[in-house]
Amino acid sequence: MKTLATSLVVYLSLLLDVAVVGVDGIRIHGKRKPWLDDPFSAVAREEGGGLQKRVPLSSDLKNVGDVNYFANVTMGGRVFSALLDTGSSDLTVAGTVPNAKNTGKTATVNYAVGIAEGPIQTVQIQFEGFTIQDQAFISDTSGHHADGEGIIGLGPSSSSVVRDELANSGGNPVLDRIFRSNMSTPNFITILLGRSEDPTDPWPGDVTIGEILNDFENVTSQPKLAVTEVKTGNGQHWQALLDPNGVIGPDGQPIKVSSKVKNSDKTRLNAVFDTGFSLSQVPKTIADAFYARVPGALYQNISGIGEVYTLPCDVELNVTFKFGGVEYPVHPLDTSISTLKKKDALGNTFCIGSFQPIISTAQASTYDMILGMSFLRNAYMLVNFGDFVDGAASKTADPYIQLLPLTNDLAEAHYDFVKIRLDGIDNTANFQLLPATTLPPTESTTPSDEESFSEKIKPYLPYIIAGCATAALILIVAIVFCIRSSRRKRYRRLHDPAPAGIEPPFAQYKPTRRY
Ligand SMILES: *[C@@H]1O[C@H](CO)[C@@H](O)[C@H](O)[C@H]1NC(C)=O
Ligand SMILES: *[C@@H]1O[C@H](CO)[C@@H](O)[C@H](O)[C@H]1NC(C)=O
Ligand SMILES: *[C@@H]1O[C@H](CO)[C@@H](O)[C@H](O)[C@H]1NC(C)=O
Ligand SMILES: *[C@@H]1O[C@H](CO)[C@@H](O)[C@H](O)[C@H]1NC(C)=O
Ligand SMILES: *[C@@H]1O[C@H](CO)[C@@H](O)[C@H](O)[C@H]1NC(C)=O
Repeated sequence: MKTLATSLVVYLSLLLDVAVVGVDGIRIHGKRKPWLDDPFSAVAREEGGGLQKRVPLSSDLKNVGDVNYFANVTMGGRVFSALLDTGSSDLTVAGTVPNAKNTGKTATVNYAVGIAEGPIQTVQIQFEGFTIQDQAFISDTSGHHADGEGIIGLGPSSSSVVRDELANSGGNPVLDRIFRSNMSTPNFITILLGRSEDPTDPWPGDVTIGEILNDFENVTSQPKLAVTEVKTGNGQHWQALLDPNGVIGPDGQPIKVSSKVKNSDKTRLNAVFDTGFSLSQVPKTIADAFYARVPGALYQNISGIGEVYTLPCDVELNVTFKFGGVEYPVHPLDTSISTLKKKDALGNTFCIGSFQPIISTAQASTYDMILGMSFLRNAYMLVNFGDFVDGAASKTADPYIQLLPLTNDLAEAHYDFVKIRLDGIDNTANFQLLPATTLPPTESTTPSDEESFSEKIKPYLPYIIAGCATAALILIVAIVFCIRSSRRKRYRRLHDPAPAGIEPPFAQYKPTRRY
């Protein structure tokens, strides 16, 4: 608990640092941020050497500096800006929601960093063209979010705190409500995250429900990655297994890794796909292999971010992840993040390695890593909920994830990097990694048998960047409260059948499947 409280305090400073972005309401929309003082404009690459542009017709997301992606949710007639979070399962907003009704219950959602808490209310909402009556949400009074902002959780309903608290299907998250309200709506979502720095493909991002973005139809022909099931607790996330030797480092070699998830194939890491993490959270071995051999890289404890590698912004690193036999190269603009650009004591800027050794509050025994925005900008993701929809008969349809690689054109990615980070002068041929022997020894962690505290909290990083500051003391008090309530929750599992006669043809909800 001490660790958690401490890191929350630490995170507060970053929050102060970058909150400016949100407060000013600067809409990035694929544009460079003005304060980066960069000579390159936001416009798509001009005469372009025949490289194709991918610009979806619509854009439903607002990209704030590649560290937050917001969608609009209209609630009781008022438009709220909600962070898209596949790592949690509740809708929470700060500020008055017109026409909302009280349920008399309250709830607290614990994220890896930060919380949301307050009364559970219901109201009519509109999201992505769907209208839902009496959607349950948390009217967040924690003070962590600006008025008019919140979080929309797109995770499995089994992890919903509101649902748990209301103990009936009226507490279901937005997506379950949508899928159940019209059986013809296919029960999948897709998410495309844009890259604010990208000179060739400027778009903020999109989220769709039950349909696929134009020009990205091929996602359905990608391998179906089985969602690995978490049997105990409410720690189910959208997670799947990497291939053996599924992480290729900047030297082109697979990184030696071993899964710490119990009863699983040690050669395959279990990865959670979480749009709520600005920096992907990876085993230290992977971060070491990505960054430790970069001349000038340092492993530092950065205020507001925690322990992370920093490196010169002009170092191009090519790394790749493999799922289902398909390679997902990571754009070199995503291996280090410049929108969080920092200056050292001498005034030199450095970039943050966007694959961070997993912070303690984000760890759990049920997965090895969390692939957040820095990975997801490189893959169009389809999540098919299968029978993970509340009320579905168990074992009828397994949920799965499909990923369409977006960074296939390595020449274009290289061009982008040279243009953005190297002022257009390609000197990457001179770059060499330090010898492999400089790698620190690989860590070996033994998973604890007990469900750790951290897996009861919902990982959620960008919160720190989006929210507004609050006294650390309040947070610590809140944490204590959260620990209490999550302990309590553990013994209050949900066993409610869906109300009879409503929302056929799904059979009764079968809790054994999820817990
Ligand atoms: C969200 O709604 C606001 C206000 O209605 C609008 O100006 C904005 O363009 C919308 N944003 C997106 C990403 O649709
Ligand atoms: C249900 O969904 C289908 C397919 O998306 C759509 O054609 C139909 O209009 C919807 N029905 C209602 C009542 O919204
Ligand atoms: C879709 O995927 C198939 C198989 O991988 C490939 O042959 C085809 O070229 C792809 N189509 C597009 C438009 O990318
Ligand atoms: C990082 O530094 C902060 C002080 O800025 C300290 O409180 C924290 O414990 C440090 N974290 C680690 C993991 O050393
Ligand atoms: C990264 O990949 C691109 C495209 O394959 C290549 O041109 C570039 O030299 C690579 N950079 C490094 C540092 O390996």
